[in-house]
Amino acid sequence: MRVLLLEDEKITRISLTNTLRQEGFTVESSGDGIEGVNLFSVDPFDVVITDLRLPGMNGIDVLRQVKQKKPDTTVIIITAYATVETAVEALKLGAYDYLTKPFSPDRVIALLQNIKRMKSIIEENAKLKLQVEALAGSNIIAGSPTMKKFLETIKVVSPYDYTVLIEGESGTGKEMTAREIHRMSNRASNPFIPINCAVIPESLLESELFGHEKGAFTNAVKRHIGYFERANKGTLFIDDIDDFPISLQVKLLRVLQEQEFVRVGGTESISVDVRIVCATKVDLKEKVIAKLFREDLYYRLNIIPLKIPPLRNRKEDIPDLINHFLKKYGEGDNPDFVSKELLNQLMEYNWPGNVRELENIVKRIIAMSATGAGLELLFNEAGYSVKHEENNKVISTDYPPFEEFILDKEKEIIKWALTKAENNISQAAKILKLPRTTLKSKLDRIELS
Ligand SMILES: Nc1ncnc2c1ncn2[C@@H]1O[C@H](COP(=O)(O)OP(=O)(O)OP(=O)(O)O)[C@@H](O)[C@H]1O
Ligand SMILES: [Mg+2]
Repeated sequence: MRVLLLEDEKITRISLTNTLRQEGFTVESSGDGIEGVNLFSVDPFDVVITDLRLPGMNGIDVLRQVKQKKPDTTVIIITAYATVETAVEALKLGAYDYLTKPFSPDRVIALLQNIKRMKSIIEENAKLKLQVEALAGSNIIAGSPTMKKFLETIKVVSPYDYTVLIEGESGTGKEMTAREIHRMSNRASNPFIPINCAVIPESLLESELFGHEKGAFTNAVKRHIGYFERANKGTLFIDDIDDFPISLQVKLLRVLQEQEFVRVGGTESISVDVRIVCATKVDLKEKVIAKLFREDLYYRLNIIPLKIPPLRNRKEDIPDLINHFLKKYGEGDNPDFVSKELLNQLMEYNWPGNVRELENIVKRIIAMSATGAGLELLFNEAGYSVKHEENNKVISTDYPPFEEFILDKEKEIIKWALTKAENNISQAAKILKLPRTTLKSKLDRIELS
């Protein structure tokens, strides 16, 4: 445990520092408030013990600054009898306890040992919480055959450390899948760290991912630990990987290959044990063809490709999803909440925003139902009838599978030629500029189908 001692009485400071070091604590000290806060900024401490009266900055301001920089820092105030009231005020500001002068070193040691125990319990709790989450059942609704198969695949690939690339339209459940893979892996009790490449500006991405050393660039006032280090022993989920800047792709490739990297502005090689799961809404292969994504990186990421089908291709999931979201938002015990008519509307809709859109609609229906009006009315008010019509147009121009489409077109043109040729096959073949045998075999196939 790292302790910062701020005390301007030199003898007290030096003797207490030595005593605490003998007890096994890592201690730094200063007799000046400003210097203390600077030390803290460079590399935060677990515990700060500060005198109330200090040159530079008083103990209360030290407390405020430290808490602002790192809220879980434990601060102990040292006070003279005359300023106990101020120390009590400090408790309200988040100080852990105060020591009234004169105090024995044993009192400080006992206090620090308690804090150490408390911190380890908090840490243990956080770990247990992760484990409980890991043990809890899956929240993924997957009743349709495609999704069942999808879940099966996830189950098989999760325990291995292979990189996974999840492809799917917006709102299909990519992040949810990534969390599920982590939950079912041996890394479940370690961190799952999500990062979105589309949100972080390119100029910051490198130091966010790999961290930086103090002084690496103008604003690097202290060392920064990046996502890769924070995800150590766990899973790093890189969302919107297609937005990953080409300038950084080599560095990412190297980390994937060597599990090692150097912080920005640093020289030391840092080893990490991180599993990468990434997601994309677009076809990454096309980015490779357009030379916007390195081919070697693509193959390194795409070891296990997972495609989540859009909701419109697995509408059987809609009723289960509705029930799931009704439960999630507190309407679980009400089977009549969604009427048949409403359900029909929901089933017909094309869901361009996929499961997230459905989730939002269910939330909206619940919220609006509180007003007591009829649900269909609410549904219409929610603007869905309009959208629904537009959406039907989408369905009508929605193409069938390629083979089916081509076969249909073939039938159409052959029928036209046969009519024109008064059902003479040789004549029709001439019109179509096809060998007679080819037309004949096509006719046989059409008849069969
Ligand atoms: N099969 C499912 N079962 C239950 N809930 C789901 C399912 N799929 C998605 N969801 C829910 O839908 C919402 C959107 O899912 P998620 O954030 O994982 O999608 P996404 O593909 O990452 O979306 P985007 O592309 O917009 O980032 C979440 O609230 C998630 O819990
Ligand atoms: Mg997402």
